[in-house]
Amino acid sequence: MKTIILLSTLLASALGTPVPQDGYCRPSRSTKIAKYDDLTWIEGNYNPIPPHYYGLSYTTFQVDSYDGFIPPTSWNQTAMAFGGSGNISVPDQPPKTSFALQSFSYACVAGIPQPECAISIWGWTVNGNIIKREIIFPRLDPGHVIEDFKMNKTRFGKEWTGLKSVGFSIAKKEDGGNMYGGLALDDVKYTITQGC
Ligand SMILES: *[C@@H]1O[C@H](CO)[C@@H](O)[C@H](O)[C@H]1NC(C)=O
Ligand SMILES: *[C@@H]1O[C@H](CO)[C@@H](O)[C@H](O)[C@H]1NC(C)=O
Ligand SMILES: *[C@@H]1O[C@H](CO)[C@@H](O)[C@H](O)[C@H]1NC(C)=O
Repeated sequence: MKTIILLSTLLASALGTPVPQDGYCRPSRSTKIAKYDDLTWIEGNYNPIPPHYYGLSYTTFQVDSYDGFIPPTSWNQTAMAFGGSGNISVPDQPPKTSFALQSFSYACVAGIPQPECAISIWGWTVNGNIIKREIIFPRLDPGHVIEDFKMNKTRFGKEWTGLKSVGFSIAKKEDGGNMYGGLALDDVKYTITQGC
């Protein structure tokens, strides 16, 4: 019996056909866009984003609903780090999982007027590298109609691949001082890779 299996395996590999056997696996990839609109939001409550939401887990970020200030990019909810800092990570299980960050919409939300806002973004890779990037959300002055306010969008290059975790924090661009505001994210697009 063993001989037959071995023989057929040898034969199959000789013919160049992949043979499914123990430990045989191809990495799988799937691209997702987290929009937060399918999550429950209750006014005045702590509204956490549940673990493994579209494959990622959030610390500090909550679900937030449109309150008439800066509209979400899609529908009426965003992810919001009320103190301006938080993390988005692949869960420990299943192992050998990483993600590539592709794009998102963002806004610093501190009210009118609010100063120019610097958002620091760190990426921690599975290989132990740290990548850093800073993006800006413009200052908002009084005298505008609400329609003038919108989330900004940014894309990420190939170096934002093989990530275990992405961290955020906001500060006043001018002097690094406290923004006294939150960081809203929407339509976060990424590709999760499940390794072998
Ligand atoms: C967001 O949309 C849902 C579904 O239509 C609705 O039930 C909810 O009231 C909306 N929330 C706000 C703050 O507009
Ligand atoms: C985000 O993750 C980094 C690295 O694991 C950690 O140092 C930092 O404290 C985390 N921040 C939050 C807000 O959880
Ligand atoms: C960025 O956000 C500001 C403030 O809401 C807005 O005026 C500006 O048009 C946005 N820029 C882009 C490229 O969306």
